[in-house]
Amino acid sequence: MPAKVVVVGSLNMDLVTRAQRLPRAGETLHGESFATVSGGKGANQAVASARLGAQVSMIGCVGEDAYGEQLRAALQAEQIDCQALTSVEGSSGVALIVVDDNSQNAIVIVAGANGLLTPDVVAGFDTVLMAADVIICQLEVPMQTVGYVLTRGRELGKTVILNPAPATSPLPADWYSSIDYLIPNESEASALSGLPVDSLESAELAASRLIAAGAGKVIITLGPQGSLFASGQSVEHFPAPKVKAVDTTAAGDTFVGGFAAALASGKSEAEAIRFGQVAAALSVTRAGAQPSIPSLSDVQAFKAS
Ligand code: RIB
Repeated sequence: MPAKVVVVGSLNMDLVTRAQRLPRAGETLHGESFATVSGGKGANQAVASARLGAQVSMIGCVGEDAYGEQLRAALQAEQIDCQALTSVEGSSGVALIVVDDNSQNAIVIVAGANGLLTPDVVAGFDTVLMAADVIICQLEVPMQTVGYVLTRGRELGKTVILNPAPATSPLPADWYSSIDYLIPNESEASALSGLPVDSLESAELAASRLIAAGAGKVIITLGPQGSLFASGQSVEHFPAPKVKAVDTTAAGDTFVGGFAAALASGKSEAEAIRFGQVAAALSVTRAGAQPSIPSLSDVQAFKAS
């Protein structure tokens, strides 16, 4: 039976434009293209886990609007269990995304329905949490909901992953003891630790501070520099596979979903990190959030090549 991953988090409709460069404050630029693409960190991680071999349930909220229907249909098309996806009055979450010619992006999110994923809503789906091998959360839903899921995941004895994205400030101190794997990128690791993170050495310092705060293990994703894994006993650098980047949107989500799927299926931490890295590398070679996420056979073919 496939391993079971439960994602508690956001769904956004991404309104994506490509432009030569990102606009400066007060500036208007001509875009080169426009697309609406299913996204949101929670939904992207759910899709990544499902395409990469896990059985996935999503706990989240969509609006009672056309985007809500599309976001739900996108998950159902991946055979993701949506019994805990609640439709609420109002608009679905949206993300305004500009991608530049260097494949970098800038994103503004408007929470919409994601803001209505309260602890009470999640508590109503406790049987879904109970069925999980691995639970994943991010920070695009209310903080008290994330805190609730971490605590409940720990009570239930589940493996709990927090991808603290987006993060601009430290996490509540009492969250750390409920987190098995904390997976920030460089800027999030910096916001959480209060240290600059711009090199392997500085990432190692930040990771040890986050472990001292109580996190079980820390994986800092460093884009083309790979990932730094700190277990509390040792630190290891995993270089990233080299690819030609087209769009980095959802690369972090693909790593998290792939890592979770691999870990839940019984792979070692090192194998799960390498698996997530290959999946993330493949995702940056394609445009968009969910359309860019590779399948298990894509990852296997890349590893064999
Ligand atoms: O991580 C990428 C995601 O961030 C996008 O899909 C967008 O919706 C924002 O949530």
